[in-house]
Amino acid sequence: MTRPSYPTALAVAALLAACGDHGDHAAPPAVRGVEPWRGSFEAVVATDLDPAADVVEVALEARVADVEIATGHHVSMWTYDGVLPGPTIEARAGDTVRVRLRNSLPEATTIHWHGLRVPNAMDGVHVVQAPVEPGAELTYEFVVPDAGTFWYHPHVRSDVQVERGLYGAIVVRGDDEPETTTDRVVVLDDVLVDDTWQLAPFDDSQAMVGRQGNVLLANGHASAAVEIASGGLHRFRFVNAANARFFRLALPGQTLVQIGTDGGLLEAPREVSEILLVPGERADVLLRAGGAEGDALEWKTLSYERGHMTGAEPDLPIFGTTLGAAVDAAPAMPASLATIPALPAATVVRELTLEESHDAGGHAGHGGGSPVFSINGASFPDGAPLTGVLGAVEEWSIVNATEMDHPFHLHGFRFQIVDSVPAWRDTINIPAMTTVRFRVRLEDHPGRWMFHCHILEHAERGMAGELIVE
Ligand code: C2O
Ligand code: CU
Ligand code: CU
Repeated sequence: MTRPSYPTALAVAALLAACGDHGDHAAPPAVRGVEPWRGSFEAVVATDLDPAADVVEVALEARVADVEIATGHHVSMWTYDGVLPGPTIEARAGDTVRVRLRNSLPEATTIHWHGLRVPNAMDGVHVVQAPVEPGAELTYEFVVPDAGTFWYHPHVRSDVQVERGLYGAIVVRGDDEPETTTDRVVVLDDVLVDDTWQLAPFDDSQAMVGRQGNVLLANGHASAAVEIASGGLHRFRFVNAANARFFRLALPGQTLVQIGTDGGLLEAPREVSEILLVPGERADVLLRAGGAEGDALEWKTLSYERGHMTGAEPDLPIFGTTLGAAVDAAPAMPASLATIPALPAATVVRELTLEESHDAGGHAGHGGGSPVFSINGASFPDGAPLTGVLGAVEEWSIVNATEMDHPFHLHGFRFQIVDSVPAWRDTINIPAMTTVRFRVRLEDHPGRWMFHCHILEHAERGMAGELIVE
């Protein structure tokens, strides 16, 4: 991977002056400070309604609910079962998962199982299923083949429905999980609220960089904190459910050990000082929390320029972590984790170019019209689907020809980035003006699979495509 250096402050100032302040170039809204959250930190876990050991059955009602996202601030959101994030679905690799969805929202919806390799008919996208109308029900059922951290969200009007709060985590455990003191999900998000603390209107000026919020949420709450035992080995499964925000995660003063990516465990733990988590992406992190009882640590998202002045934001706190009483005994840091066989050379090579433009009235990136996004010249659903052969190994070059980063996601399969640490991925950043290559085996599941930018405003405005595998 190659990427040009960041623009200097002077160049940025010049760019800002030249652009004026069209909606699509406004600096991101300032994130609000709020009172500390005193309630629980943990996401609610879904109840398994099926007594069989290898079947997990969950009932989810999509409905409007008031959610206290920050102390004293109740926001009318769209939720699964009235909670934010939606209930975490827990299963073991190989289990059958059955989810009965009841739609009590004012509009049609679906559920997509992001990262789970499910049969095509269960993928929750409009090309394979009719959306579930208000008042209707639908049951999704599939086997979960892989251990890892995944998530679920609608795939119709996803820019609006996910921002309103429709998302939840899925944790699939395997036979060889590392032993840890704790194991928790942390779903990250941001929402844009107005002066009355309700969700701000959705409008096209948010489309260029994606709707970036002014309240940061960890498991549905701003300014929350979790207590963990000092000296323990703690596992955090991060999910980025934001429409557009890139979380550049760091815990100042502590060493993070990444053990997993989108598609499960790495081969071995890796010490890192920070993790860039793009929309849709997951990371599993171990923390050996050293320090005295009562010490307070703070997870932050560091300033990151992904294009269009987004780097003007300062480093921001996300949630706190306080150290409780020390553990008597803590598991050792695992030496190795999983085996990830390298994919063989590809028999099919493709190049996909990500592009942005405006529909009228100006040159690309600076015009007056609404932004339009495309891949290889076609704005989805225009353009012919790609076709692939079941079982083939393909190599895809994703060329980002735009001046901002785009997180690229492929449904149905997991892939490996070429010339990188062995890892299974389904959502990766393609930095501005950069090309990233990955290999994918089109295994097990024929059908119509989508790929798209996971900045949801971009996906809904054409930066998407379809791969037909048969
Ligand atoms: Cu998480 Cu097609 O999406
Ligand atoms: Cu997906
Ligand atoms: Cu994008």
